[in-house]
Amino acid sequence: AQVAVDVSVDTTKAGPKIERTIYGQFAEHLGRGIYEGIWVGPDSDIPNINGYRKDVIEALRKIKVPVIRWPGGCFADDYDWRDGIGPAAKRPERMNKFWGGVPETNAFGTHEFMNFSELIGADAYVAANMGSATPRDTAQWMEYMTASGTSTLAQERRANGRDKPWTVKYIGVGNESWGCGGEMRPEFAADLSRQFGSYARLHASGSFRVASGGSADNFNWTDVMMDRAGKIFDGIGLHYYTMPGDWAKKGQATGFTEREWAVTLRNAMALDGMITRHEAIMDKHDPKKRVALVVDEWGTWYDQEPGSTPGFLYQQNTMRDAEVAALTLNIFHRHTERVKMANIAQMVNVLQAMILTDKGRMTLTPTYHLFDLYAPFQGATPFPAMVSGPRYVLGDVDLPMVDASAAKDANGKMWLALVNLDPKKSARVTTNLTGKAQGRLLSATAMDSHNSFDKPDAVKPVAYSGRMTGGKLVFDLPAKAVAVVAID
Ligand code: AHR
Repeated sequence: AQVAVDVSVDTTKAGPKIERTIYGQFAEHLGRGIYEGIWVGPDSDIPNINGYRKDVIEALRKIKVPVIRWPGGCFADDYDWRDGIGPAAKRPERMNKFWGGVPETNAFGTHEFMNFSELIGADAYVAANMGSATPRDTAQWMEYMTASGTSTLAQERRANGRDKPWTVKYIGVGNESWGCGGEMRPEFAADLSRQFGSYARLHASGSFRVASGGSADNFNWTDVMMDRAGKIFDGIGLHYYTMPGDWAKKGQATGFTEREWAVTLRNAMALDGMITRHEAIMDKHDPKKRVALVVDEWGTWYDQEPGSTPGFLYQQNTMRDAEVAALTLNIFHRHTERVKMANIAQMVNVLQAMILTDKGRMTLTPTYHLFDLYAPFQGATPFPAMVSGPRYVLGDVDLPMVDASAAKDANGKMWLALVNLDPKKSARVTTNLTGKAQGRLLSATAMDSHNSFDKPDAVKPVAYSGRMTGGKLVFDLPAKAVAVVAID
């Protein structure tokens, strides 16, 4: 039997638009995220476009990635940009101390990243090293990338193959400065950010600058950073990872229990309340809401796949991950006054990835399909979607059974997303909307259904529609499913 749920969209209350950049991605020098995942080099047997995997490029273009954060993460604060320019054969080899201690060849550097962003039509969000470099390093990196004149750094860029300056639309100053980025106190990090931020501005004047933010419920970090450095930044970061367990034992990516399913979804939804509290702190310092909240790392984090290289953070990706992505994006849609950018961790082969690769093979994850389904929300205008009906209850976990998001795109077309959190019961969703509703549905036979290299299509979207019943649009929403429809 279906459970009756009502969804009511208030079309009189348009919110600030959903910035496309909320659909941003994060690509760190970590595990097989860059090397193998994106970059195989021009001499590889794997089909490539100037060294970039052709299959990955084509898949990323399809989901309209608006912005990519690079080179880290923790890696960013141990990175010297000079290592990654000039002839590849002459670039120094370093150790990637944060992630497995493996050799970092620097084959993928500034040119390779900036050209990659251009190739998939994304803007660049470059994370500058505040943990172990100087403001001068940041200033010179920005000058190298963006100077149009005859300065030695601009000439060096040209000699390395790039005549036209690049646009560095977003600059991050440090990463997790409270942790891997220098173990700083918020007061010190805020003061240092002012110094680094001002030199970044000097050489990349139009860039949107983001200060390194706190993690999850570290509200004091937001408070101190806003108080001391808020005025000179355009955004302040926030990192939030979702896991069924804790940092010591996070839980498995597949083969999990219903309790782990429920706890994971509960933890994903907890971000809503945390954002509300960070926003209230920001409002205190910035009542005009000039400074954005930038959730520049988010996603699921499980114990890495058995047998995979330690420190590489390689994990499978299931229907549960697609639900986490849908719930998180719905949260961002509800906080568009402040949340202007977000970057899921991470793009390929790392944590909640869009894409997994195995040598020449590639598979698209349920999270990829979810981003594909949600692409029409990029740049759309959100409207509140109220859900009423039974809840999904399991032990002490008590969640709404259905979550919803509604927004109108630039052509005035209404889009509705419906998420069924219950892994066993289907819902009959009655809305206050009318018309013809057509779109796609992502659902699965098991909670941990996923795509493998042998079965790459186990979880993929199918055509879906609603129907008019009693003058209202009604949807049959299967258990553990996400539907996105356009309403004409
Ligand atoms: O995304 C993996 C790591 O998680 C990042 O490098 C770091 O910023 C965070 O702790």
